[in-house]
Amino acid sequence: MSIKDHIIKRRTTHHYKPIPIDESIIDEALALVVHAPNHHLTFPYHFYKVKGQVRDNLLAYAYDSFAQKSQETADQKLKKWSSIPGWLLVTQKRSQVDKTAREDYATISIAMYILMLALDEKDIGAKWSTASLFETEEWYRICGINAEEEIIIGMLWYGYADKAPKFFERPNIEKYSSILE
Ligand SMILES: Cc1cc2nc3c(=O)[nH]c(=O)nc-3n(C[C@H](O)[C@H](O)[C@H](O)COP(=O)(O)O)c2cc1C
Repeated sequence: MSIKDHIIKRRTTHHYKPIPIDESIIDEALALVVHAPNHHLTFPYHFYKVKGQVRDNLLAYAYDSFAQKSQETADQKLKKWSSIPGWLLVTQKRSQVDKTAREDYATISIAMYILMLALDEKDIGAKWSTASLFETEEWYRICGINAEEEIIIGMLWYGYADKAPKFFERPNIEKYSSILE
């Protein structure tokens, strides 16, 4: 398949088979992200593979947080989140300069897309999630992230899709492009 085909085929995956993903696949995908366009070559990201006790602690914290609002939601979320085989926490290096922070986030977005396309090539689905829980002090604490140095920008969840992802009809680009002359 061409890059064009993967761009059109890739869709956010919400439901995963609880089958472990070969570590070499994510390592190969990660190795590509350093090629994302990056103004001033700041390499503004860090990717943490979340596993074992840290993952268990995050799941327990998420469960308790959701349960404060609804037991049913907490049960559903725990079932769904604990079946996700791949957890990649993504952070951005903090910058005091607004323009640098903006450009760094742009680079990370491109890096995320590189990851998603590289995984799609192996028929592995992914989801960039920015759930509010990831912004809490407790999430930072469990992950051991120093908020003065890094900002959690999300989780890249990945794995083999359990249900075919939804395809949303995309608009024609003519509505979103024009000529300036
Ligand atoms: C920055 C960013 C944050 C996102 N956060 C979430 C999220 O928290 N939960 C979720 O279900 N999807 C999340 N998504 C996935 C989008 O909802 C998804 O890309 C959108 O519905 C379009 O679907 P597609 O990726 O299949 O084209 C996020 C996507 C981006 C780019």
